Amino acid sequence: MNYKEIAEKRRAINFFNPDRDVSEELLTEMIELAAKAPSSFNLQPWNLMVLRDTETKEKLKALAWDQPKVVEAPVTLIVLADKDGWQEGHPTVEKNWKEMLDSGAMGPDQRDWFLDAAKSLYAWSPEASLAYAVKNTGFFAMGLMYAATSLGLETHPMDGFDHEGVRAAFNIPDNYWIPLLLAVGYPTPDLELLPSKWRKTKDEIIVSFD
Ligand SMILES: Cc1cc2nc3c(=O)[nH]c(=O)nc-3n(C[C@H](O)[C@H](O)[C@H](O)COP(=O)(O)O)c2cc1C
Repeated sequence: MNYKEIAEKRRAINFFNPDRDVSEELLTEMIELAAKAPSSFNLQPWNLMVLRDTETKEKLKALAWDQPKVVEAPVTLIVLADKDGWQEGHPTVEKNWKEMLDSGAMGPDQRDWFLDAAKSLYAWSPEASLAYAVKNTGFFAMGLMYAATSLGLETHPMDGFDHEGVRAAFNIPDNYWIPLLLAVGYPTPDLELLPSKWRKTKDEIIVSFD
């Protein structure tokens, strides 16, 4: 499938077939394709919690407006955006630094520049750290949805959940924001989709402030 086909095929699917599982191999492929998303300084401030067990998904559903797809989908992901994912000492930051050294992209004398640059962009306000985490994780989440489509899977992103309730119920540390939940699976047999929804046109999207 090319990009046009994937973009036109992806839909937020409400009805998942609870009897059709998503294999661990397919889920791995989906996640690793999505992980090709770009990110600030390649810091990749995203993580996922993978829920497969019905009891665990029921716990999430109770905090997610009781949306049946949370349980009906064989896999529901809690998508996490790491607000600390630019800080010195963070495992991904340190791995990224080592990769840059090993590849020759940066020299040892550039470490302070690199850490200060990230700090100047993301540490100046709580909103800046949140925006850093959520914008990068949004690209990753979009990748998850498009990767799923390309692999013959369906998805449904969800904002409709009690953010702090989910944090407490799943012991999610404070450095994470939860941008969305994502149901992944196959549609119920013979699911008939409503026509695609409207989108803003190019002219509605482009603005100027002269
Ligand atoms: C971040 C995000 C959160 C969403 N939250 C919900 C939700 O909680 N429940 C729901 O039914 N749909 C939710 N949606 C689905 C949107 O309503 C849907 O994507 C939109 O209407 C366009 O339809 P389409 O994805 O089928 O093209 C969400 C979508 C996004 C991107």
